[in-house]
Amino acid sequence: MQTKHKVIFDTDPGVDDAMALYFALAHPAIDVVGITTTFGNVYVEQATINALYLTRLAGRSIPVAQGVNIPLAKTPGLPPAFIHGADGLGNLPSRIAVGGQAETESAAEFIVQMARRHPGEITLVAVGPLGNLGLALKLEPQLPKLLKQVVLMAGAVDEPGNVSPVAEANVWNDPDAADLVFTAGWDLTMVGLDVTHKVVLPASFFAHLAQQHDHVAMHTLSHAVNFYANFYQSIRPDLGHACYGHDVLAFVWLVAPELFKTQTGRVRVAKEGIANGQTMMAKLAIPYPQAGWEADKPETRVCMEVDAAACARLIDATLASDWLLPALAQ
Ligand code: BDR
Ligand code: CA
Repeated sequence: MQTKHKVIFDTDPGVDDAMALYFALAHPAIDVVGITTTFGNVYVEQATINALYLTRLAGRSIPVAQGVNIPLAKTPGLPPAFIHGADGLGNLPSRIAVGGQAETESAAEFIVQMARRHPGEITLVAVGPLGNLGLALKLEPQLPKLLKQVVLMAGAVDEPGNVSPVAEANVWNDPDAADLVFTAGWDLTMVGLDVTHKVVLPASFFAHLAQQHDHVAMHTLSHAVNFYANFYQSIRPDLGHACYGHDVLAFVWLVAPELFKTQTGRVRVAKEGIANGQTMMAKLAIPYPQAGWEADKPETRVCMEVDAAACARLIDATLASDWLLPALAQ
């Protein structure tokens, strides 16, 4: 029997964050032991409301700790309501009462406490801007040794960016935190646009899952994906009414790494100027004269290729399985 991955999920839900959360709850090899929230797709308060709502809607009570509401150094921008909806879940027409309250500790404190309590056991899957991990590193410099591994949905190496020609949204939202994370020295995997832009999921994929599971959680996800697919259809009509899976791919990597091809090297982040938020990877083993690329900088495993059809099959089979429990009451 495979031991389950004990996961803290750091997230800004967010439509693809919701997909990722439900994949993680549904997958038998993943045990979500906590959720930490950040600003990004929505303000952090809304991210916390959504994390509690989505988990309790699916019948789970999981600790949720609220995290950072602004970037470490950069001037904050506005959440992209035109992509995820003003509520982060495609402007739901109504919500049922499911109750739930955030923990009293901050996201960074929660991460540090859990890592100290379970040394070497926790996988941190982060799919939003990386301020919570940045702060946790400042609170506990030994964190890279205390966590088992970190998996990010973040960045782009060869693929163009999605908020500028070179920057991916999570990194661009807090480039200073991202650079701290890429240079901290943990077992680090980057699942970025190089692979997430290859996995296109039609809105009908989620509508079909909601037909199979006549459950409020799946109807909520399908509603949110419809809104998200409307946005993608406006910028990429060639994709049809569909969207990228982005965040769910971080969990797919965790349970099925054989579906990806990776390259390993030093990754750094541009923190200012026109390349702000760009993730750059050193692909050659040469001694660069440019400071910041010294050979002793930690390396990141970067996903560069993916079997998109196999990913879609795995996501479908996982969400179609018998995993949903009755929604929790207020
Ligand atoms: C990332 O940005 C967010 O909008 C998504 O939730 C995902 O984490 C994609 O660039
Ligand atoms: Ca996200």
